[in-house]
Amino acid sequence: RSPLFTVSRVRHILLWMIALYLTTKTKTPAYSHSNLYHYGTFPEGFHWGVSSSAYQVEGGWNADGKGPSVWDTFTQKPGNIPNNDNGDVACDSYNKIDADLYMLRALKVKTYRFSLSWSRIFPNGYKSSHNQKGVDYYDRLIDGLIANNIAPMVTLYHWDLPQALQDISGWDNLEMINIFNEYCDFCYATFGDRVKFWITFNEPQTIAWSGYGLGQIPPNVKQPRDAPYRVAHNLLKAHAQVYHTYDEKYRASQGGLVSISLNAEWAEPLDINVPREVVAADRALQFQLGWFAHPIFKNGDYPDAMKWQVGNKSELQGLPNSRLPSFTDEDKAFIQGTADVFCINTYTTKVVRHVTSRLNIESYETDQDVEKDNADGSENTAVNEQKAVAWGLRRLLNWLKEEYGDPEIYITENGVATGTAITVDDTDRIFFLKTYVDEALKAHNLDGVRVKGYIASSLMDSFEWLKGNTIGYGLHYVNFKLSSRPRTPKRSAHLYFDIMRNNGFPLPTEEEMLYGHFPEGFIWSTATAAYQVSAFGTNLLILSLRISIVSKH
Ligand SMILES: *[C@@H]1O[C@H](CO)[C@@H](O)[C@H](O)[C@H]1NC(C)=O
Repeated sequence: RSPLFTVSRVRHILLWMIALYLTTKTKTPAYSHSNLYHYGTFPEGFHWGVSSSAYQVEGGWNADGKGPSVWDTFTQKPGNIPNNDNGDVACDSYNKIDADLYMLRALKVKTYRFSLSWSRIFPNGYKSSHNQKGVDYYDRLIDGLIANNIAPMVTLYHWDLPQALQDISGWDNLEMINIFNEYCDFCYATFGDRVKFWITFNEPQTIAWSGYGLGQIPPNVKQPRDAPYRVAHNLLKAHAQVYHTYDEKYRASQGGLVSISLNAEWAEPLDINVPREVVAADRALQFQLGWFAHPIFKNGDYPDAMKWQVGNKSELQGLPNSRLPSFTDEDKAFIQGTADVFCINTYTTKVVRHVTSRLNIESYETDQDVEKDNADGSENTAVNEQKAVAWGLRRLLNWLKEEYGDPEIYITENGVATGTAITVDDTDRIFFLKTYVDEALKAHNLDGVRVKGYIASSLMDSFEWLKGNTIGYGLHYVNFKLSSRPRTPKRSAHLYFDIMRNNGFPLPTEEEMLYGHFPEGFIWSTATAAYQVSAFGTNLLILSLRISIVSKH
């Protein structure tokens, strides 16, 4: 063994010890029944990956003919983002394909999820504005991935709407369906010989609610009473349209998959013994996830809970129609079944309780009659509303299985933010990854949920939307102070490499047989004597000591 090997092992041990310390110092959560660590592996061929999105990493905001997107417009206005950060340069991925490929190759990921910047390909959103240099960039990136045996997972729309299309009201305009279809059709035709996994929209719920309801993210439309419902209606039709385009024109020759990345926080009822709270938690999930998943994966229509809530409220508010639009039978048939697999983005869990909202506030939010809080005893992260609650992932995955008829599931985003004080020593992310991936493994191995892939968010620290560069989700640290934007693997990148290589967390007994070098009675007695209190902690300690023994051979 080289000295380097030993050094890296020692580092591992230290990290495990820190993780152990973190586990024992945390007060026992209210949901401690979920704390046991599960050893096991995913099947061969499990789709491990990392993610990014165009606006967050590319930079080159006006390079080679790219048109502005709504995010360029928004972030370039002083005062909108902390420190007036913006994505003008971001990670400079537009000029750093090789640096990005290097990281992906070093991680040995099987899949890279990234998005296409619509206005780089069609600067004003329309096909007539075609920009070959933008197309060339994606051709080079995709070819580089293929050459390295990394499957591209391509998001067609990750929030960066061409500004010119927002100028005609963006997703509140029905015409967008055809304009989006023309763009997607072009992408399938141009890249589909190599891209076999398409994601139409990233988090349509965030687009509709945060973009057109709260007005927090671009296009910053603040019409919470009905714009989100109209926008979601159009997004669903646009999604269905481009699914059918793939089906009719490309599937036979290209043989890829088409889906949509929906976002959900697991909603844990405040009290599972109170039916009203259980119903409220289910309603919260229906409003957030079911809004899109119910039409696509069930019957082409919105969940009953949504139709009833918005319908009843609208009636009591004296409106002639429900603020939630309805689909014709033709629409329903067109939308139902338009995803080949289920893609979910998830970051945290909320505890949900029933409230009776005031009728004089007309909003998607008050329509739900729920209130959401952070879960007791969950770990803080650099984002206040994103506590780390690993057990919620297993419940969410089980809920998806039950609700949507046992679909194949890809976790297309999951990760944790750290602040700028953390560069490469990201212990929090190691803890997050270990515990979250283990909950996905439990869902797969113990509950029979058909989890097919896990995409860690994200490849590297990026422009984090409304938070600018004040936080990062990366497995790689990017120094935004230097114009060369150097990328450095964090500790979590090493851990994730191991998880992917092992396909999970192999059983300690398998490992024991593999190496067969445990000195009799050496570790086990020490570990159990000192740390009997926490099964989870014990396992961590055993694993750390095991690694130390292995490294001696
Ligand atoms: C109101 O809610 C009930 C179920 O609680 C439902 O049967 C009814 O159709 C709803 N009314 C409207 C106008 O949506």
